This record gives sequence, C-alpha cells and structure tokens, in this order.
Amino acid sequence: MAKTFKIAVLPGDGIGPEVMAEATRVLDVIGKNYNVIFQGKFANVGGAGIDNEGKALPQTTIDICKDSDAILFGSVGGPKWETLPPDEQPERGALLPLRKIFGLYANLRPAIIFPSLTGASSLKEEVISGGFNVLVVRELTGGIYFSQPKGIEGEGRDRIGIDTMKYTVPEIERIAHVAFHAAMKRDKKVCSIDKANVLSTSVLWREVVSTISKKYPEVELSHMYVDNAAMQLVKWPKQFDVILAENMFGDILSDEAAMLTGSLGMLPSASLAEGTFGMYEPSGGSAPDIAGQGIANPIAQILSAGMMLKFSFGMTDASEEIDTAVATVLDQGYRTRDIYQNKPGEKLVNTKEIGDAIIAALS
Ligand code: IPM
Ligand code: MG
Repeated sequence: MAKTFKIAVLPGDGIGPEVMAEATRVLDVIGKNYNVIFQGKFANVGGAGIDNEGKALPQTTIDICKDSDAILFGSVGGPKWETLPPDEQPERGALLPLRKIFGLYANLRPAIIFPSLTGASSLKEEVISGGFNVLVVRELTGGIYFSQPKGIEGEGRDRIGIDTMKYTVPEIERIAHVAFHAAMKRDKKVCSIDKANVLSTSVLWREVVSTISKKYPEVELSHMYVDNAAMQLVKWPKQFDVILAENMFGDILSDEAAMLTGSLGMLPSASLAEGTFGMYEPSGGSAPDIAGQGIANPIAQILSAGMMLKFSFGMTDASEEIDTAVATVLDQGYRTRDIYQNKPGEKLVNTKEIGDAIIAALS
C-alpha cells in the first residue's frame, strides 16, 4: 500500500494561493512518481483567516495542522489588514502562534545565489562571481520574541514598553545541534552570531555553542558579533557556510542574506519542531501589488514543498529532484517577471508556465 502523508495546506493571502497551486501540482506528480499519497487539507490563515473566520489563525486551522504531518504555508498579509492592532494582524497573529503552538524552534533559511541569476544581486559581480550558498539557522521560539515579561505598562507619558531576552541552556543546545548537523552535510563551517560584548544571553549563547561544538570536531566554529556579521555579509558573503543565530539576530541577518541573492522570490524556508513535524514557507512576502495576475514566481513555494519532502517525509531523492528541476528550468532560460533581465536566451513566462516547465523537467 502506498504511504500517505497528511499536509495542512495554508495558502494565505496575496500571491499565496497562486504559487501554492503550482506547489501542489508538483506534489501530485511527485506522489505518482514515488508511489506515495499526499493528502492535502486546505485551511485559512492570515487575512484569509480574518475575513472568513474572524481570526488570523482560526481554531479550525490549528486543528487541521495538528492532524497533519507537516504544514505547507503560503504567505500572509496585505494593505487590507494593516490597520488592525499589531497582535491581530496576519503576520504576527498567525506566524508567531503557529511557531509557539507547534514548537517550531529551528528555522532554516538558505540564501543561495543561482549562477544564472547573479545579475539580480545588488552586490558587485566580483564579490559574488561563482555564486554563494549560506544557510541561516535561526532560533525561532525563544529570545526577545517570546520571553516574559513583555508588554506596555502605565498611563500616558509614564508608559514603559518592556521586552525580555531570555535563553535557557537546553534552548541554545538544541538549535546549536541543528546548525552543526547541517554544517556536517555542507562545508563544515558554523559562524555563531551574538552580542557577547553587551548581552548576557549572548555570553551564555557563546559558551553553550562552544561546548556543543566539541561533539562536532570536523566542523570549524567561529563567533561573530551581530553588527560585524551584518557588515561581513555585504562585504564577502562567501566566507559563510552556516550562520547560527538567536531569534531576532536571525530575523535580521536572514533578510539581509536573502536580499544579497537578489532572488527573494526564489528562496524557501523550513521551521522544524523536534521530531519530523515542520512548517515550510517561501521567504518572500505576499506581494499584494501583483496578486491575482498569475505572474508571481512560484519557485520559492515549490522549493519549500521540496524541503518538506526532505525534512518531514524523509524523501531526500524527491526533494533533490525538485531542486534539480528548478535549476534546469532556470538554465533553460525560463523567467518570471521578477527575475527577468531581458538577456539573450531568456523566456518571460507566467506562474503556471514556469510550473509546467518544472513539472516537465521532473519526469
Ligand atoms: C519573519 C518575519 C516575522 C518575524 C514577522 C512577520 C513576525 O519577519 O518570518 O522573518 O519577525 O519572525
Ligand atoms: Mg523577518
């Protein structure tokens, strides 16, 4: 009997539903080729959750996610919901609780520059020639995002805003293992980010990461202050292999690293819990300005589905097949509008057409 995997499919807002349609088409083909059944259940999230069920993360959606082996997430947010209180907005109201409820502590954000797209980067050709491939491993359920106390207290001009940054040893240990583990399969280098010249959480972070590194003697560990890391990323991104960072530093550096590739619409991400459960989503946003036109780039969503196959379903071959198919299609010159540079050999295509090309490259 064919193996069955249950997927909570959360397309969300803006271009989310359009790019998700391509990802589910790719999954259908992979399912047939590998003789597995992907049972997708659609649910509302973000603005779609607010409009249809009154909340960015409705209980029905949480229940569907709980009953699944993984979450495939599109993107959330848009001008329509920007005037809501911050906690109720699509991004915060859906993403942060999903991370907490499902214990998605390990966020993997690859920043890869595809050789055929080096012209799209904001960096000089000589800095990025030959491409670069950085993996940001971001702690996702602790630190200043979630630690208590938190909030605004008092009245009028006497109000104070409070956020707390806290890390326990086990929280640092488990994310460090994820980074070292990833490095073992890559170039065997981890650069751990902190602000140990100022923050106590960072002093502890540096100490615990150093201790864990002894279990991975083949991996070269370095430490870097976050401000320097921000500088080094634009100066010479090729010096990095795996970047390990706490929640907020990772938030900032992963955006910087992604932007350096010039192809935000191309980058997937994984948020992993202990065990095999995970949530997979494109790094780019919901792009409301081009939503509904069928011109968005579905590659990040398709690669996110690929990460799901690898990390949650153990289907490494299928995941690699998707990566290869995407690279092939780019080499063949297929470009959605966001990555079209009007060079000889490029073919400007829409969302569905590039999806068709990727599917053709699969089988
Ligand atoms: C991200 C986003 C979120 C974060 C926001 C929308 C809450 O920036 O996933 O990086 O800060 O984690
Ligand atoms: Mg961010």
